[in-house]
Amino acid sequence: MNPFTLYNPTKLIFGTGAVSKIAELVPQKARVLLVYGGGSVKKNGSYEQTVKALGKRKVVEFPGIEPNPEYETCLKAVAVIKKHKLDFILALGGGSVIDACKFIAAAALFKGKNPWKILTSYGAEIKAALPIGTVLTIPATGSEMNQNSVISRRATTEKLAFANDLVFPRFSALDPAFTLTLPDRQISNGVVDAFVHVMEQYCTRPSDAPIQDGFSETILRTLVSEGPKALRKKDDLAVRANIMLSATMALNKLICIGVPEDWSTHLIGHEITALYGIDHAQSLAIVLPKLLKYKSSSKGEKIVQLGKNVFGIEPKPKKAAIEKTIGVIAKFFKKMGVGTEFADYNIAGDAAKEVSENIAKHYGAIGENADITPKDVEKILRL
Ligand code: NZQ
Ligand code: ZN
Repeated sequence: MNPFTLYNPTKLIFGTGAVSKIAELVPQKARVLLVYGGGSVKKNGSYEQTVKALGKRKVVEFPGIEPNPEYETCLKAVAVIKKHKLDFILALGGGSVIDACKFIAAAALFKGKNPWKILTSYGAEIKAALPIGTVLTIPATGSEMNQNSVISRRATTEKLAFANDLVFPRFSALDPAFTLTLPDRQISNGVVDAFVHVMEQYCTRPSDAPIQDGFSETILRTLVSEGPKALRKKDDLAVRANIMLSATMALNKLICIGVPEDWSTHLIGHEITALYGIDHAQSLAIVLPKLLKYKSSSKGEKIVQLGKNVFGIEPKPKKAAIEKTIGVIAKFFKKMGVGTEFADYNIAGDAAKEVSENIAKHYGAIGENADITPKDVEKILRL
């Protein structure tokens, strides 16, 4: 196991009625920017409960954050903060709204001329940020309990991430009941995204880390068993609660402690979304099975371990176990209704080439061993 520091300051409030607790957590004198997306929050009770919990505080609303939040929209929110002298940001929605709020929080106090530098410096340029709280409505990204954010800039077909401890939410309220209004596509996206988050931190090489491995395998098993149930039975709150907790635990700094991390599926996936506009989880479902196949020699041990402990696949012979495990993962994505091929999304043109060019532009070599070059990315996407 490698040396590590574990830090996560987000207070997590989970379960029925969680939102009422924010009445005590947002400072009484706070001047709040309440940020949400396209309106789903008004159909599941989350908006109503949040406004009630905020009580008499000064609140300015900023709706209209789009999925894959847009840089230009975030800058408009920064202008609203400055105009009304607001000092607290409450995100109400999914990963897109929360990520947007993290960027807005940093950009509002950014001293430089060009806030896009927050992204191009991977958050290193952030020296201060407004406090953020969140009310989550879709289990998927883990953004409610981490310090990451991903912002898109459609004008330049870019989608870049940043991370900084200053943008950890102060608190996040998670009421699984809000997720009962999710359409199938978003239930599936969330389950697949959380599954891939675990894979990025687990499926590298053995690191003598049984606690992290065991925790990761439990999250994966839970997603594999509960995901399809959520699609079958639309009112099962216990299933929704298990998925919600899985997604948060999949990316809150816990399972990555002391182990190598990959993240190449995400970096490639972000470029696919930036170029072709497909959902984040859809992009991951295209990449992951191909990437595992291509890197099956360096990742082989962990793929076999995963096959055995998550899917009950016989570990020997090794080659067959690897193939079977990758096949079962792809089958799981398809069972969740998320296609694993470019053709499933009508993507025309030479995606493999275009994506690999953008990986070259933004990153160079990626993966836990920094040995996936842009050329490799092209080969992976042609599999
Ligand atoms: O905009 P509204 O009307 O609210 O509708 C949203 C949106 O259309 C809808 N939705 C959310 N909660 C709902 C609901 N519909 C019905 N009932 C509810 N309870 O779902 C749609 C998708 O929402 P979005 O926030 O975009 O989904 P998600 O949480 O999957 O976030 C995706 C974004 O997060 C980034 C992705 O790249 C993408 O931009 N990621 C952020 C990460 C992080 N911060 O750590 C890590 C991830 O790997 C990911 O990259
Ligand atoms: Zn993701």
